[in-house]
Amino acid sequence: MPPISLTVNGKPAQITADGDTPLLDVLRNHLGLPGTKFGCGLEQCGCCMVLVDGEPEKSCGKAVSTVAGKAITTIEGLGTPDHPHPLQQAFIDEQAGQCGYCLGGILITAKALLDRNPSPTRRQIAEALDDNLCRCGSHFRIMRAVERAAAQMRGATT
Ligand code: FES
Ligand code: FES
Repeated sequence: MPPISLTVNGKPAQITADGDTPLLDVLRNHLGLPGTKFGCGLEQCGCCMVLVDGEPEKSCGKAVSTVAGKAITTIEGLGTPDHPHPLQQAFIDEQAGQCGYCLGGILITAKALLDRNPSPTRRQIAEALDDNLCRCGSHFRIMRAVERAAAQMRGATT
């Protein structure tokens, strides 16, 4: 089995796995990055969202061979406890979430949204997050947190 070269959170990684192995399994089991969650395993819930070349993708249904050489960003690549991404800080400030299981995927999707649209309307936020389920029903706080982060990021760059 030839090794597969990946770039994860800006760092090169080489793994030995069948090319059909889901990217989610590789992140969690080969690379020790448990922030990306297994929810449904059927590309239905968005828990497993990562950025692939800046675009949000569900990693549970994505064969690792298809992302060789691409830039993958997981929730671990967004910020750190000492230096959280503005989205992470906004989610803390708004207490946006209860169990937290969905939040990694939601933060990844929200980052992709704000990267392409720094001033989304609430409707655009809802549409962007349409593929991310939250079983705890925290949707309104989540949308408020994305709005707060967007405002903060606009302020930081003007
Ligand atoms: S675990 Fe991938 S979409 Fe649910
Ligand atoms: S906070 Fe529990 S699933 Fe979203």
